[in-house]
Amino acid sequence: MADTSKNVLVMAGAGLSTHSGIPDFRSPGTGLYDNLQQYNLPYPEAIFDLGFFVRDPRPFLSLAKELYPGKKYRPNLGHYLARLINEKGKLLRMYTQNIDGLERLAGLPPEKLVEAHGGFSSASCISCFKEHDPDETREAIFRGEVIRCTNGKCKGLVKPDIVFFGEALPDRFFLYQDDVLWADLLIVIGTSLEVYPFAAIADEVPRDVPRLLLNRDVVGSFGMRKHDTIVTCDIIEGVTRLAKELGWHEELMELYAKHEPCM
Ligand code: OAD
Ligand code: ZN
Repeated sequence: MADTSKNVLVMAGAGLSTHSGIPDFRSPGTGLYDNLQQYNLPYPEAIFDLGFFVRDPRPFLSLAKELYPGKKYRPNLGHYLARLINEKGKLLRMYTQNIDGLERLAGLPPEKLVEAHGGFSSASCISCFKEHDPDETREAIFRGEVIRCTNGKCKGLVKPDIVFFGEALPDRFFLYQDDVLWADLLIVIGTSLEVYPFAAIADEVPRDVPRLLLNRDVVGSFGMRKHDTIVTCDIIEGVTRLAKELGWHEELMELYAKHEPCM
């Protein structure tokens, strides 16, 4: 199907990055939410909760320090598949929930990418919303400092523009609402489709558009439509199978082997 498609919409979540060494959120045992004991959080999602951040910014800031793009994690074959779909002129858009920036590092052009839960490339104050220098923010986080707003007497907390629970998604998420109407194939990779409004995209594509799921578990409404294809396997295995079926495997391996992160 992807060989004839011209407008492929890709949706991705944390499962896409597990082979890069970043744990996902909800996998029992290995997911981030099962491994936050060191932070004494009242409940796991508190690490992305604005109210909790105000009381104690340190858990989020130490997680952020760990996840900063370009530091230690590298894109994997799954990220390069998205790039290859784009290089074939078939990528309409990639929507990712991931904040690790690995799509960019793999060379996906920013105009093709919607980082729905934000990222580290900008930073702002949570009180007055003044933008702060992302490089200074990064350096402060690396030094383990809590950053305060310098706008007048504000002194609000500054954080990278990662979307917390209860916060609005970036404007860019709403910029391409027509994408679902243009898509002629939807590929969903490595997400539990539990977090809205992101997850809704999978249901907003018209019913006659084929949907392909590459994920360990069946998620969302997959299986309820005639044109759904579900591949429940490890993501790298699924990506490899897809690339082989498309006759793109060699090219994909070449792209990956070059492995020159785009900063
Ligand atoms: P989840 O952890 O909820 O889901 C990851 C999915 O990927 C699960 O269905 C896993 O089974 C699957 N998975 C993980 N590793 C895999 C592998 N190697 N092969 C195949 N499947 C694999 O992550 P998301 O759906 O991305 O929000 O979570 C959505 C949002 O919840 C995140 O963006 C984050 C979190 O709270 C914010 O940061 C605001
Ligand atoms: Zn401020």
